[in-house]
Amino acid sequence: MTIGVLGGGQLGRMIALAGYPLGLRFLFVDPSEDPCAGRVAPVVKQHYMDAQGVQERLRQLQVVTYEFENVDADSPWLAGDVDVYPPVEALRVTQDRLLEKRCFRELGIETPTFTPVDSDSELQGSLSRIGLPCVLKTRRFGYDGKGQSVIRTVDDAAEIEIHAACILESFVQFDRELSIIAVRGKNGETAFYPLVENEHRNGILYKSISPSPNVSKSVQSLAEDYARRVMEKLDYVGVLAIEFFQYGERLLANEMAPRVHNSGHFSIEGSDTSQFENHLRAITGLPLGSTGERGLSCMINLVGSIPDIDKVLAIPGAHLHLYDKEPRPGRKVGHITVVSDSRETLELTVSQVEALVG
Ligand SMILES: Nc1ncnc2c1ncn2[C@@H]1O[C@H](COP(=O)(O)OP(=O)(O)O)[C@@H](O)[C@H]1O
Ligand SMILES: [Mg+2]
Repeated sequence: MTIGVLGGGQLGRMIALAGYPLGLRFLFVDPSEDPCAGRVAPVVKQHYMDAQGVQERLRQLQVVTYEFENVDADSPWLAGDVDVYPPVEALRVTQDRLLEKRCFRELGIETPTFTPVDSDSELQGSLSRIGLPCVLKTRRFGYDGKGQSVIRTVDDAAEIEIHAACILESFVQFDRELSIIAVRGKNGETAFYPLVENEHRNGILYKSISPSPNVSKSVQSLAEDYARRVMEKLDYVGVLAIEFFQYGERLLANEMAPRVHNSGHFSIEGSDTSQFENHLRAITGLPLGSTGERGLSCMINLVGSIPDIDKVLAIPGAHLHLYDKEPRPGRKVGHITVVSDSRETLELTVSQVEALVG
């Protein structure tokens, strides 16, 4: 069976690596010069809206998925006779922060207060409604904190020029950030990983701990319930990630991704079945695998540079994943996961890793 994957970054690469033991084959589509999934599977170098040759290619595929949610929902790759999972509607909703937040609200899922803002004059008017501090985000194409400005004063707002449709949100004084990785099969079967605690640096995920320490049963069930509501509403098949701000026993949904997610990378070594394998199981109609923990995990992203590999690999229990990408400031080039059976060993090993990562 050959699976078409739109987007050839590290998420696609790890999807393929998880699919080979299941006997699956992959074909990536990516317009960029040298996508890192291209080292492990063939790539069609083509813009997602270019229809040239797409119908013939689709005939070789059994299912199409995506690892990048900014693929245009009208792409010809998503409009053939081949099944697309997660469904295109999930792509439409999640690629627009306004539709995404409205979807959460319709399902009774709490979010920060928000309002659409399309012009400088609308921004002035919306400030009093949302209150200070607040965050202005472009509705589309933002990632790793890009396309966002925190507004702390009226003067901050006066300096902003709006060039794209935006959403203005209240700035949440959260206790911490958590995310849930959920998966739903074609038959409606669902499975959930434990809530992960995420630490961001400069808007980019730096570290994820799974399971997140001190999560009550009721907060875990709330997250699962929220994810289930979204997946049922969207008739979802595949892995879905939702990012939350935790505030006491409340979870405010920040955003969701209709794909495997950086905060789920721990699952390669830390879970019975990785998020990548479970995504593939779901979209190919196979039974979902156990999301049970193999221990306490911590994942640290390698952003902008690669540490001394010899030293990383000399740390017992450190698992190195390099994406074969040229290091550049702010670019994710790999990650390291540590899995331990005690909190003490985990913390000790993670501090050894962090000393190298800097
Ligand atoms: N409303 C908010 N209140 C407080 N912090 C926020 C808010 N929105 C975003 N952030 C911070 O910025 C990070 C990135 O924002 P996010 O909306 O997740 O966009 P991205 O697509 O770039 O990940 C969040 O993980 C969080 O740390
Ligand atoms: Mg985010």
